[in-house]
Amino acid sequence: MPTVLQALKNRSSKRAYLKKPVSKEVLEKILTAAQMTPSGTNIQPWITYAVSDKNVLKNIGDAIIKKMNSGEKKNQFIQYSPLNFINPYKKRRKETGFGLYNHIGIKKDDSEARIRIWHDNFRWFGASSVFFVFVDKVNIDGAQGSFIDCGAYMQSIMLAAQEFKIDTCPQGSTTEFGKIIVDILNVPDNLAFLYSIVLGYADKEAKINSFQPARVPLKESVVFI
Ligand SMILES: Cc1cc2nc3c(=O)[nH]c(=O)nc-3n(C[C@H](O)[C@H](O)[C@H](O)COP(=O)(O)O)c2cc1C
Repeated sequence: MPTVLQALKNRSSKRAYLKKPVSKEVLEKILTAAQMTPSGTNIQPWITYAVSDKNVLKNIGDAIIKKMNSGEKKNQFIQYSPLNFINPYKKRRKETGFGLYNHIGIKKDDSEARIRIWHDNFRWFGASSVFFVFVDKVNIDGAQGSFIDCGAYMQSIMLAAQEFKIDTCPQGSTTEFGKIIVDILNVPDNLAFLYSIVLGYADKEAKINSFQPARVPLKESVVFI
């Protein structure tokens, strides 16, 4: 069993999975552990649809890729990415993106390959299960606290998964297609889609899975007083 520090260190986003499905029992254990995530005044604002149905996942992926290819405007509840990246975030983002492409041998100017890799998000990187996380619109109407709570919930899921040798990839790429997701999953009108998390048994042979972007030193993120 990994210690908390080992789970934090060992977790990294995996983008290629074996066909082996994750049992409902294990998914329930991960979700049960994540229920212990703290939230402001314990409102527990996350609502998760845990989807392992191949057809449903394919339908969502197909609809998102169709929308992407149509060039139409985004279809989202929340704007995940900053509208304007400035340094040092711009530099870190670029280093990570190009770092990943370089790691798997994709040239900077090969936009077709880059799009193909991005589309893999909507094929769930071959994983068998995806958690789609929603929040009640009332909780994000003029308030941001529930985003903080749901972010902590995301990390709880990813760390708990480590205990069962399950790997994960958090996805903000789905956020901008939130309205497609609520339609296909037939989610009640009061819910807004936030993000998804892919879960599965990572393919350890896949080159893409050995990519581990570095972190900046503590002095760039922390001020001790
Ligand atoms: C909220 C959030 C959204 C993300 N969205 C995506 C995504 O859509 N697709 C993807 O491949 N990775 C996504 N990532 C993974 C990040 O790229 C990754 O966490 C970061 O590069 C650090 O790498 P690591 O997770 O391997 O440590 C996301 C991560 C977070 C926390």
